[in-house]
Amino acid sequence: MLDVSSIREDFPALHELKDGKPIIYADSACMSLKPKQVINALVDYYSHYTACAGRSPHAFSRETTRLYNESRKKIAAFINAKDASEVVWVRNTTEALNLGGNILNLNSKEKPTIITTSESHNSNLVKWVRLESLGRINLIIIPTHIDCVFDIEKFTSVVEKCSPGNFLASLNHISNVTAAKIPVKELGKIVHENEGILQLDAAQSFPHTPIDVQKMEIDLLGASMHKALGPTGVGILYGKYDLLEQLEPLILGGETVSDVKALNSGKVNIELLNPPSKFEAGLQDYAGAIGSGAAIDYLNSVGMENIAEYEVHLANKMLTGLEETLGKKIQVLGPKDPKHRAALAAIDLKGINPHEVAILMDEMNNIFLRSGYHCAHYWHHTINLNEGTLRPSWYLYNTVEEIEIFIATLEEIISMLT
Ligand SMILES: Cc1ncc(COP(=O)(O)O)c(C=O)c1O
Repeated sequence: MLDVSSIREDFPALHELKDGKPIIYADSACMSLKPKQVINALVDYYSHYTACAGRSPHAFSRETTRLYNESRKKIAAFINAKDASEVVWVRNTTEALNLGGNILNLNSKEKPTIITTSESHNSNLVKWVRLESLGRINLIIIPTHIDCVFDIEKFTSVVEKCSPGNFLASLNHISNVTAAKIPVKELGKIVHENEGILQLDAAQSFPHTPIDVQKMEIDLLGASMHKALGPTGVGILYGKYDLLEQLEPLILGGETVSDVKALNSGKVNIELLNPPSKFEAGLQDYAGAIGSGAAIDYLNSVGMENIAEYEVHLANKMLTGLEETLGKKIQVLGPKDPKHRAALAAIDLKGINPHEVAILMDEMNNIFLRSGYHCAHYWHHTINLNEGTLRPSWYLYNTVEEIEIFIATLEEIISMLT
């Protein structure tokens, strides 16, 4: 088990008081808190060697380049990528998944297909819906039923009907609403047997559970460092190198080309650099990338297996506590077995407005959590939860005592409002 009290010492925000009382941070699925090691890495960059990477020959730039590249290597090792060149810095999971979608040839005579699931976050749905409405792709949304068990049979039959080599399965590894995990390796096999590409939305798994892109047969993967103890506005796209070579960048500009010159015809010729450079146009978030390296060091020092195990413990406490205290007054969505879910829960308050409850949680006991659709509008509507849900989400720095306070506060609020 983790040494949570010493972990908590590393997170300055946990020691903030509001109205003289401690805070309970239960919104890590949206944004994780940052340990001082990450904050220090950012301050170091801004205080001691602020520069751009890869461009200028001076000492500040050399140091930035060294640490920027080192962070990329750390990310690659963290997910067991074959090489650091398979990791592209982006802003967030949303950008990673949008970029990954470019792997399909949208101009081919036969429209490509994208397969996703109904509980997908908007970042793994809205772009596909848009492309479909523009007539560029066929979109297949596999329904995520109320029990949240991934429908492998349905998935297989959908995949088998796609034309080989012309489809992308873009799937949510761990849902930010159902908390359910999908069997990635098994699904990867099905996709590859049918010559498709598997893209994983790892926003909610990368920070919480070990990922091995090679063993799990993942072709493309998007994750956000800001959910994984890292700085805000930094994400990664992992891609198998041959796929990154084929992938069309979203934007182009400085440092994406080796040369730009006039041809005899008068046209201008550009020579794109190899991945990952061709995707990283313009000056980058160097501080963010370097801080991300510090976040990876921190996660490794605690151990991803340990974090995953601790979160099963937290999920168990949350599920059993809610069941014992509130029973049928609420509905906790997602798998019943804590081993098969993340330490977060979308809670249906059965007619009570979740926004009102979230505000009261903050006012009464400094409990910070999220309410609404959590960017999974479509799924909430498909299961008739049109008011949305209340979502606590826990991480390595949370304690069982905090979960108990959350449950007691929820009980009090529900009895006040009914
Ligand atoms: C499952 C899932 N996918 C994608 C995203 C999008 O992440 P970002 O906003 O960092 O792009 C989130 C964010 O909450 C998420 O939970």
